[in-house]
Amino acid sequence: MSSLYHFTILLLISTLPIPSSATSRKLAALVQQQPLTLKYHNGPLLKGNLTLNLLWYGNFSPSQRSIILDFLQSLNSPNAPPPSAASWWQTTEKYKGGTSTLVLGTQILDENYSLGKSLTTSQIISLVSKAPHVNSINVVLTAADVAVDGFCMSRCGTHGSGFSNPKDKQSRFAYAWVGNPVSQCPGQCAWPFHQPIFGPQTPPLVAPNGDVGVDGMVINLATVLAGTVTNPFDDGYFQGPATAPLEAVTACKGIFGSGAYPGYAGSVLVDKATGASYNANAVNGRKYLLPAMWDPQTSTCKTLV
Ligand SMILES: *[C@@H]1O[C@H](CO)[C@@H](O)[C@H](O)[C@H]1NC(C)=O
Ligand SMILES: *[C@@H]1O[C@H](CO)[C@@H](O)[C@H](O)[C@H]1NC(C)=O
Repeated sequence: MSSLYHFTILLLISTLPIPSSATSRKLAALVQQQPLTLKYHNGPLLKGNLTLNLLWYGNFSPSQRSIILDFLQSLNSPNAPPPSAASWWQTTEKYKGGTSTLVLGTQILDENYSLGKSLTTSQIISLVSKAPHVNSINVVLTAADVAVDGFCMSRCGTHGSGFSNPKDKQSRFAYAWVGNPVSQCPGQCAWPFHQPIFGPQTPPLVAPNGDVGVDGMVINLATVLAGTVTNPFDDGYFQGPATAPLEAVTACKGIFGSGAYPGYAGSVLVDKATGASYNANAVNGRKYLLPAMWDPQTSTCKTLV
């Protein structure tokens, strides 16, 4: 514990921009003082055992798939040393109603781009409808060469709901989509592993699994999954209008470690062997950089480090 503490202090010093460190600290303090409340709108959340069905749309290599599969498996695994991806996910338990346990279900590979390389939102919904959807979250992951409505314009991924039988309100199911941004908008959807398009410029961090696009997808998948379980049907936890809600993770945008401020992800851990930045240990010795999540107990954005 004390050696970890020592390491964190060293890291903080080495990653702050030296000439302006006093200003940075002041700014960080101001950002942290903003009170943040996500209102609960009395609707159902997704709790208990939830099957996560995956549809891989387009070309993903086996190693890319394993980066994402190991992340998903880690959310429900006590086997990684702290700070762990499982402890990150446990913050969702503090939202009304107990635990949400994600269990991997069916995987479908659509390597031949069955609907082409430019998808609308309704095509995403028809893709998710292919997987079973009882007590499940169906997730579409699109490859780097697939354009999706709104991708890179207003979003890096999204979640929503559909009806398996349009006449039966009980048949509502949750889905999510995340795209690989590496060639279309890495500065927007794979930040902080790529230079940002806008705003203050900080050097990019080294991606923990050596894949800027897929490590970016993990951040966005983490974001939409936390949003899905805490606000599945637009009447769960969020701030602002239901049409443009700030949710569990989107309310904490751009924060990965303590002392974050716009353009600076915060103080995180660095793997000595690879130089990669991370804040979560995971199964199979993997490491990930996971975004801050709003903690209902403290009304703050909680980071793992
Ligand atoms: C979830 O699944 C586990 C393992 O099958 C089971 O022990 C547990 O009771 C289930 N939990 C709920 C809430 O259904
Ligand atoms: C995808 O296309 C390739 C090449 O045309 C073909 O060999 C393969 O069987 C197709 N796969 C599926 C699942 O249709």
